[in-house]
Amino acid sequence: MAEKDLHRIAVIGGDGIGPEVVAESLRVIEALGVSIAPTAFDLGAARYLRDGFVLDDATLEELRSYDAILLGAIGPALGDTRIPGGTLERGLLLRMRFGLDLYINYRPFHGVPGSLAEGCSFAIVRENTEGPYAGEGGVLRHGTIHEIATQGSVNTRFGVERCVRYAFERAVALERPKVTLVHKTNVLTYAGDLWQRVVHHVAGDYPGVATDYNHVDAACIYLVDDPARYGIIVTDNLFGDILSDLAGAVSGGIGYAASGNLNPARTGPSLFEPVHGAAHDIAGTGRANPLAAISSTALMLEHLGELTAARRLETAVAEFDADVSVLSTSGVTDELLKRL
Ligand code: IPM
Ligand code: MN
Repeated sequence: MAEKDLHRIAVIGGDGIGPEVVAESLRVIEALGVSIAPTAFDLGAARYLRDGFVLDDATLEELRSYDAILLGAIGPALGDTRIPGGTLERGLLLRMRFGLDLYINYRPFHGVPGSLAEGCSFAIVRENTEGPYAGEGGVLRHGTIHEIATQGSVNTRFGVERCVRYAFERAVALERPKVTLVHKTNVLTYAGDLWQRVVHHVAGDYPGVATDYNHVDAACIYLVDDPARYGIIVTDNLFGDILSDLAGAVSGGIGYAASGNLNPARTGPSLFEPVHGAAHDIAGTGRANPLAAISSTALMLEHLGELTAARRLETAVAEFDADVSVLSTSGVTDELLKRL
């Protein structure tokens, strides 16, 4: 893709600090000289509370026509019980992930100075459309003492293999190429066996990439004790969700963690969002750290083929040496732009 292309971007600021951090992302894109045509989409908790709208087919189809989607954060304030659990998660976020076939959730981590993972860089490649998130299961005899609730984990050979292949593709670019499968093969023997066989199969195509396996409980210890052992972690949807919060915490805090919900087959746009949530408690105070959103923006630029801008931004964030704790949201961006 030519670097002078105009990219059409759907922008979902969302709730709480979401719009604040997305505004900083747009400032950074402009400073980098990348041409985008942003279109705002009013979606999330505030929209739902106003008129009951979550996401319909027409809006999903409209989103599909963009080159990428930039999202801030979605969700009500803690303790706000007006939105039934799952309404926005399943109805909006997962609907976009499934509907746009965003089958990879790519989450890179770089331990900031002073963090447990200081100096370590690794990434989690999380399967993003299957596992326990797929919606399999149901309830029988609801509300009785004989109630039965099941929620199975869906793992297709096709879904696992495309995820594992993406992990190996990411690994070949590393200085020390390594893929670690994280699962619980000693208990989840059906799903674990499928993942393990797929990793062995795909590894045959990548002789230069080392492979390893950790049980998910042990991986929680290693992420804290020895994060340097990891290159690319590949794992299922739920393990990846949990591990990426832990990885964020040991790398300096969730305020830094970026993610790309990717459709590497490019049958539709990919979606880029910080791992953190709406943080209503600090919304409007100017205290939100925009670096997670800005790092997600770097992933978006990379995906759009704006490789020069993506590398410049990535490097500026990696080398960022100002004290985020004393800077305002826009102040962080000001300091970052000086270092571009
Ligand atoms: C994340 C979030 C989502 C997830 C929620 C909000 C549905 O926690 O992106 O990690 O579980 O995937
Ligand atoms: Mn999560």
